[in-house]
Amino acid sequence: MSATDVELISSTAEMRERAAHLRSEGKRIGFVPTMGALHEGHLSLVTAAAKRADVVVVSVFVNPTQFGPTEDFASYPRDIERDAALAEQSGCDILFVPTAREIYPDHYATVVHVQKLTQKMCGAFRPGHFDGVTTVVAKLLNIVRPHFAVFGQKDGQQVAVIERMVEDLDMDVDIVRVPTVREPDGLALSSRNAYLSTEERARATVLHEALRHALSLYRSGIVTVPRVLDEMQTIIRGKEGVELQYCVAVDSRTLEDVSELKAGVMIALAAFLGKTRLIDNVVLK
Ligand code: PAJ
Repeated sequence: MSATDVELISSTAEMRERAAHLRSEGKRIGFVPTMGALHEGHLSLVTAAAKRADVVVVSVFVNPTQFGPTEDFASYPRDIERDAALAEQSGCDILFVPTAREIYPDHYATVVHVQKLTQKMCGAFRPGHFDGVTTVVAKLLNIVRPHFAVFGQKDGQQVAVIERMVEDLDMDVDIVRVPTVREPDGLALSSRNAYLSTEERARATVLHEALRHALSLYRSGIVTVPRVLDEMQTIIRGKEGVELQYCVAVDSRTLEDVSELKAGVMIALAAFLGKTRLIDNVVLK
């Protein structure tokens, strides 16, 4: 099949109508929100959605409100034809590509803000970022009206914040978490990996190396958080050109700090390689 077999919808009114019609037919709608530049990480979400849904909707919207003023909104990679072909191969039925004007018209004035969970980790370094994420995801959920929506564990704080929003606002949608897809050397797939120079790309593996080290400490019975984080920091600081922003151990749902490693704890980090900011995490089993 060719890319043109995906139904492309750009109008929010049309998407809303299409969703209402599907629901009236008793179809189960699965939804995967993305900012495009699709890679195997995104596609694993589409595949997971296709397994549980009658109709899979993937949105591609580079959401301006979640980028800081010095961040990469303008240069963020965009290639809708490639995205359409890849999404379709993984089981996408409808590609929803709204315009910024329709999502944020001139009179737009509402922000969805999740407290507490957004103040730490990435939220502490990217003010307003999660407001942009929760606002656009709330809007997309209202337009697409899915039975469930799929998010990657790769953005561990994001999915926790969205789960909190959905519960707090009594939104009638299930949130499904999908594990992080990695390169063979462990680097988590990310659209931003494309920004890395050859040297930076080689150095970036240290992030997963540090997380793997934490996992092996945990498996050998070492559960004291300060010790584990210390050893991770030593590994990362030993690599030139990698600037660690944070490295924490938190409950993967509440994002509250923990002092001991146990099942359900997320060890998460963010680091700069040159100008590129990468995040990664592992959740303990
Ligand atoms: P984006 O960065 O395009 O990611 C879309 C989805 O793909 C997110 O749920 C993210 O966690 C998931 N994803 C990215 N890389 C992954 C990987 N290596 N393995 C598994 N899943 C991965 O996240 C966003 O867009 C936006 O914030 C959005 C939710 C669309 C709101 O604008």
